[in-house]
Amino acid sequence: MFIFKNHKVSIITGFVLSFILIAIAAVSGGNLPDHFDMARWMHFMAGIVWIGLLYYFNFVQVPSFPHVSAETKKDLFQENGLVLRALWWFRWGAMFTLISGLALMGAMGASAGMDIRIGALFGIIMWANVWFVIWPAQRKIVGVVEASADEKASAAKRALIASRLNVILSIPLLLFMASSAHFPIFN
Ligand code: HEM
Repeated sequence: MFIFKNHKVSIITGFVLSFILIAIAAVSGGNLPDHFDMARWMHFMAGIVWIGLLYYFNFVQVPSFPHVSAETKKDLFQENGLVLRALWWFRWGAMFTLISGLALMGAMGASAGMDIRIGALFGIIMWANVWFVIWPAQRKIVGVVEASADEKASAAKRALIASRLNVILSIPLLLFMASSAHFPIFN
């Protein structure tokens, strides 16, 4: 069936299904989500894309790469190959998570408590790591920009540390994102 053939069509189908359910709920006396609810929905979808790929890189790709031949790596690094595709979703997932998160915080104003501020602070550090450390380093590693073997090796070290730091920060980040609305820890 066509909805299973292409991931973009699958994504659109998921949204269509969601809006059908919202419409059914609305006509049967349920609530219509407002702008804030929609932004929160987009926020955690983008967050899943971002953090899902962060965990994929750290738990799956990086540990398996020592067992991958140089020839296979070349294929994986090519334009439209696995690594650049994963990095595209990764960095734009980070960007959308940040934008939607800041929009939510802006809408909450002074009612954004300490828990969400801690989560947001960690998220902003992680976003900066993605855009200003990991992505520039990956551009060298994958060959989008020219780099010597030495430059590639030091870029790989830098990217790994930034990426591992993001794994560490993601754990309290998720705790504080969830606690802010359900079991306030600091406030
Ligand atoms: C990048 C910086 C981030 C900022 C500025 C931010 C900000 C926010 C804000 C203001 C809320 C609204 C809280 C509420 O509705 O009461 C929220 C909720 C949420 N955030 Fe983030 N966030 C960030 C990163 C992340 C990341 C990386 C994830 C990972 C998935 C995430 C997952 C969530 C979830 C699941 C909620 C809903 C919590 C709930 O209502 O139960 N956020 N975030």
